[in-house]
Amino acid sequence: MASDEDGRAAIDRELADKLRGHRDFVANVTGSQQRQEGAARPVSHASSAATFDSGIVPDAGSVYQGNEHEKSTEDEQDVAIGTATTAQASVQQHDAVDLDNQNAEEQQLEPDENDSDSALGSDVASVTTSLSESIWNYRKEHGRTYHAYKDGKYIFPNDEREADRLDLQHHLLRITYANKLFFAPLQNPRRCLDIGTGTGIWAIDFADQFPECQVTGTDLSPGQPTMIPPNVKFIIDDAEDLWLYDEKFDFIHARLMSGCFSNWPQFIQQAFENLEPGGWLELQDYGLPVKSFDDTHLGTDVFKWGQLLCEASLKMGRPLGSDASEQFQGWMRDVGFVDIQEKMFMWPINTWPKDRFMKELGRWNQVNIAEGLEGFCLALLTRALGWRKEEVDILVAKTTTDLRNKKIHAYFPMPVVFGRKPFPGEVAFQ
Ligand SMILES: C[S@@+](CC[C@H](N)C(=O)[O-])C[C@H]1O[C@@H](n2cnc3c(N)ncnc32)[C@H](O)[C@@H]1O
Repeated sequence: MASDEDGRAAIDRELADKLRGHRDFVANVTGSQQRQEGAARPVSHASSAATFDSGIVPDAGSVYQGNEHEKSTEDEQDVAIGTATTAQASVQQHDAVDLDNQNAEEQQLEPDENDSDSALGSDVASVTTSLSESIWNYRKEHGRTYHAYKDGKYIFPNDEREADRLDLQHHLLRITYANKLFFAPLQNPRRCLDIGTGTGIWAIDFADQFPECQVTGTDLSPGQPTMIPPNVKFIIDDAEDLWLYDEKFDFIHARLMSGCFSNWPQFIQQAFENLEPGGWLELQDYGLPVKSFDDTHLGTDVFKWGQLLCEASLKMGRPLGSDASEQFQGWMRDVGFVDIQEKMFMWPINTWPKDRFMKELGRWNQVNIAEGLEGFCLALLTRALGWRKEEVDILVAKTTTDLRNKKIHAYFPMPVVFGRKPFPGEVAFQ
């Protein structure tokens, strides 16, 4: 439908605008890389993928056709960003990082000892409630805003800066998962629920992929786009309240929700009850503190930062990072899900890996974490641990320094867990 396409294009344009700010960071990373005006642009495969008006920032959904690369040094090959002449490209095509056909399943990675890429960039920089004015009356704290509905529950900001980061992170996730939005073996889903939808970007992409499926995205914060596919709706709802949906779902998806719930088993139980028999629940999340295979993360500020966030969130009664995500399989089994599977991916903290695909993920993740860092820390450390803003600033600065240090071979575990609600009678045969 033309109107859908217009809407989609508008969203893509908006996203491209939002991501434009990251170009400076990317330009820093590329160092001396020369860009040629008017040369080839990234090619978008997925309808949801962002477009970029100069070709400097990659289209995270698909990216890097061979002719988008320019290469003159080993560093610049690794950068894999920018433009190229067609002649160069035809020679260099085999060097392209194929982001569509790889995924980032956890593996022991070899560090890139020869990499002189500095990775600089310090300044990268249920009771359904109807929309009312009060939910826009955001809490303001230390220059950031936080959701107003159920004030104080969720500890990351809801301002434009965080929304930009969530959209960037969505594209990083699409690269990580070889462009997949989910891993559960869905067959013609008719009703899908996206819990904690954030900017709604996953829900919109999913609705595009399944135009026959009614997709509902819920969140504590309003602010999702209004130009959306006809099969999407967003509602303001606290997923910790009693769910009052009038029909059951074929698929329930919750992404990056660790730290949000005080009672994960109860959340999973409600998901179970609101699924059709044979329906799937999928949890896509992150692990924290960071890990490494060679212990280079031990004693670092980036490791301490993760420990502090976990400690603070536990103190607020909402387990975060690995405190939650390592329990997903067990909690799902306890509630009665079957066919539970876990896929473990990884996000390097920067460009330390030798592997070109993982290096690319690290490059994006460094931007992602650096952009989010202040927001991740402020409310948690001031509210839960009684820190002063100045103390948080120091931790953020030290952690940012570690994020640039390629001698620290750290990564975030990125688990995806999915399971099926059994059909009546099926459980007895297990
Ligand atoms: C880290 S963001 C993830 C957003 C989105 N799922 C994504 O992957 O881009 C977590 C989101 O969950 C929302 N949230 C937190 N607690 C919630 C709750 N109890 N009920 C509904 N949404 C919640 C937050 O407002 C925020 O938008």
